[in-house]
Amino acid sequence: MNFTVFDTPNAAEIYAAELIAAQVQLQPESVIGWATGGTMLGLYDALRRMDVSFKQTRGFNLDEYVGLGPDHPQSYHHYMRNHFFDHIDIAADHIHLPSGLGNPQESAAQYERLLAQYGPIDLQLLGIGQNGHIGFNEPGAAFDGGTQVTALSDTTIAANSRFFDDKTQVPKDAVTMGIGAILKARKIVLLACGSVKADAVKAMAEGPIGRFCPASSLRGHPNVAVVLDQAAAAHLSL
Ligand code: PGA
Repeated sequence: MNFTVFDTPNAAEIYAAELIAAQVQLQPESVIGWATGGTMLGLYDALRRMDVSFKQTRGFNLDEYVGLGPDHPQSYHHYMRNHFFDHIDIAADHIHLPSGLGNPQESAAQYERLLAQYGPIDLQLLGIGQNGHIGFNEPGAAFDGGTQVTALSDTTIAANSRFFDDKTQVPKDAVTMGIGAILKARKIVLLACGSVKADAVKAMAEGPIGRFCPASSLRGHPNVAVVLDQAAAAHLSL
């Protein structure tokens, strides 16, 4: 893993955005794996201001909540349109997210077929959960898993309840790209900011490798750029 640590979250977000911009400029037909969450808001804000055309790119998002349709304000379809896709020139038929509606198992299987058709992903963007999850691959997820339906852990439901009216509104399940699919990406950029992520970053980078910490799987990947602010890097012995 290659670590770059910045003084502020904003500087980390801009640097991660620059890595994506460089990938797209070098290879305009890149397949990009997109991520959601609070951490990515600053990155999308920076990226959409950069002079980059996404016209020929294809995008695969990591995950979607089961039960939320594309127009639900907390769905990841809605997040991506609102914060990024509506502001760039990507073709509508090049945007892929797992469906949160219908049969979740079928949605996962269909997404897996699309990934097989258009993958591998050239650059996968990742955040990290406080419990070490990547995508919605919660502790215990297999390192070779494909797209699947997963139950959200209590930690994740509590962390994500800040985006909903209350905790009971947070969906209990999601469809997520599996760790196996994430590890197939040619390059991975993981962005984490804030003291709330410091323990998870430490566990990912320096703890034992195992299913109890999904992000520790990334240590088996040859090309991972970890972009942090100082608060998220605080527990590392770098
Ligand atoms: P966050 O989520 O950016 O909202 O903290 C990151 C994640 O859960 O992967």
